[in-house]
Amino acid sequence: MGENGVEILIFLTTKVSGTESLHVPSKQSAISWSAIRTLKQKTDKPFGVNLIVNQANPRQKPDLDICVRERVPLVITSLGNPKETIRRMHEVGCKVFCDVTTLEYALKVQDLGADGVVAVSAGAGGHAGPTSPLVLVPYLRKNLRIPVVAAGGIVNGAQMASSLMLGASAVQIGTRFIATPEAKVDDGYKKAILKARPDDIILTKKLSGTPVAVIRIPYTDQLGTELNFLEAALLKNPRTKKYMKMVRAYIGSEALKKAITRPTWKEVWSAGQGVGLIDRIQPAGDIVQEIAREFHEARADFEKSYKSGPGSDQAALSS
Ligand SMILES: Cc1cc2nc3c(=O)[nH]c(=O)nc-3n(C[C@H](O)[C@H](O)[C@H](O)COP(=O)(O)O)c2cc1C
Repeated sequence: MGENGVEILIFLTTKVSGTESLHVPSKQSAISWSAIRTLKQKTDKPFGVNLIVNQANPRQKPDLDICVRERVPLVITSLGNPKETIRRMHEVGCKVFCDVTTLEYALKVQDLGADGVVAVSAGAGGHAGPTSPLVLVPYLRKNLRIPVVAAGGIVNGAQMASSLMLGASAVQIGTRFIATPEAKVDDGYKKAILKARPDDIILTKKLSGTPVAVIRIPYTDQLGTELNFLEAALLKNPRTKKYMKMVRAYIGSEALKKAITRPTWKEVWSAGQGVGLIDRIQPAGDIVQEIAREFHEARADFEKSYKSGPGSDQAALSS
C-alpha cells in the first residue's frame, strides 16, 4: 500500500498470538526500514513484511536488501517470482511465505523452497483469486507439503476456526483492519467498508492488470473493469508485458493512493467481501482479542452442538 495506507496488518497464527505483518509503506526504502526498527522496538514477537516481487515494483531490490539486513522473520511475497527473495531470506535464516491463488503457482513456489503459501481465495481484498476458500484451502493442503495460510473474507473467529478445520495452519486478515483507528486512510474509506455489502465488491483489472477487489461505486462503473484491447495485447506480448505492467501498476497505485487518503469522487477503494460482516470501527488490538475469543467460543459451540454425533441436528432441521 501507499505511504499513507494501511501499514500494519495482523497475521493471526494458530496459537492466536499476534504476529504483525507489515505492508511496506513507502516509495522510499528508508521509511520501511524505520518502520521495521520501530516494530522491533515495540515487540519481540515475530513479524512479517510483504514484498511485491513482480518486475513492475521498482523497490523490490532495495526493500529485499532491508529485509535481509534486518533479518525480518517472515516475508510474504505477492504477484511475481519469489526465487531471489526465498534464496536471500533463507541465507539469513528467515522464512518466506508466498501469496498464491492456484495450485499450479503454489507448486512452483514450493519447488523454489517457499516455507508456506497464503491461499488468497475468492472474496479477498487486494488481488483476490478466483477459487472459493472452501475449496482452495483443502485443495492446496492436499497437494502441498508446506503449510497453507487461509486468506479472503475472514473477519471473525468462527471463520478462523473453519479455516483451520479446512486444513489451514493460520489465517491472514486484511479488510477488517481498514476499519480501525490505526489505519491511516480517509474516513470515507472506513465508512464505505462499514456500509458495503458483499455484492458491492467487484474485481477490476484496471488498477494493475491483475484483478483487484474494490468497492463498487459509480466511478468504478464508469471506469469499467476490463482492460481495453490495446492494453490487453501489450500485457500478453512478452516484450511489452513488463513495461505495460509497470504503467498499469503506476496508474493504479496512484489512483488507489489518492482515493484512500483524501475524499475524491474517484474513489477506488480496495476491500474484500468480508465488508458485509464489518459493522464498526475498532482498535486493531481489540479486533485481535475479539477474534481470539470468538475462535474459542466457536470451537466450544461446535463441540457442544455435535457432541451427540452427526445426525443429532436432524430433528431440528426437519421440525
Ligand atoms: C487495501 C488492501 C491492500 C492490500 N495490499 C496488498 C499488498 O500490497 N500486497 C499483498 O500481498 N496483499 C495485499 N492485500 C491483500 C492482503 O494481504 C490479504 O491477503 C487480503 O486482504 C485478505 O483478504 P481480506 O481482505 O478479505 O481479509 C491488500 C488487501 C487490501 C484490502
